[in-house]
Amino acid sequence: MRQQQSRIGSNRTGVQMSPLDSRRMNEHRVDAPPPVLQSPSTAAMADMRARYIADAPALGSVPPPGSVKGVLSTGVAMLSGNSPQLLLDKLGERLAFERMSTRLYDALITKVRATADETGRTVVPLDMLLEHRDQEAEHFALLANSIERLGGDCTAQTPCADLAGVEATGLLQAVTDPRTTVVQSLHALLIAELADNSGWEILLALAASHKHDTMVREFGLAAEQERAHLQQVRAWFEHHTLGAPIAEPGKA
Ligand SMILES: [Fe+2]
Repeated sequence: MRQQQSRIGSNRTGVQMSPLDSRRMNEHRVDAPPPVLQSPSTAAMADMRARYIADAPALGSVPPPGSVKGVLSTGVAMLSGNSPQLLLDKLGERLAFERMSTRLYDALITKVRATADETGRTVVPLDMLLEHRDQEAEHFALLANSIERLGGDCTAQTPCADLAGVEATGLLQAVTDPRTTVVQSLHALLIAELADNSGWEILLALAASHKHDTMVREFGLAAEQERAHLQQVRAWFEHHTLGAPIAEPGKA
């Protein structure tokens, strides 16, 4: 079952819809526009942004670990220059992202169920989406547990967690928009899985540099599952966009 994602309709957004107005607009066209930052309006905007940047506070901070064990281990690592606050910040980032990924899958599952045909056939297999969704939720729990083991507070929003939430807003909007098709939603999911794969690789390297062997082992398994998610989502998207065959699991 392939889903059509592009159709011809009454789109009126392009200049071809109004030849008279586009001809008049072209009469005022500047053939060689100045570099972007040199035009008066964009230069003024850049100046204003630069002032805001100079005065802006940091996005947030990493709270100190609350438990005695956490304070001690963080203190020791800080003394040895290992920046444990960076590890806590990146753990918070992945935690925020995995929470969002679970919601992305929840939203897509709703859309896939809602668009099943009369025989119950869906655009992508529901059981696989549910498996991915559950693994994202397990990764969220794993990260919360890892933060707690370091004496950190998994409910605290770290700077990178804040940033991850803002970055993901558009992806969630794309999938929860009732007008987007399953395949269009898969494109948003593909972006999420690409970012997720990169995020896990960085976190894995960071945990290894801090010599947290348990984290390295557990995060290695999570990263492996994320690689499989990316491979599968990309295969679904390419199948519905290019007509590419979907490889059997393990043969891609
Ligand atoms: Fe994933």
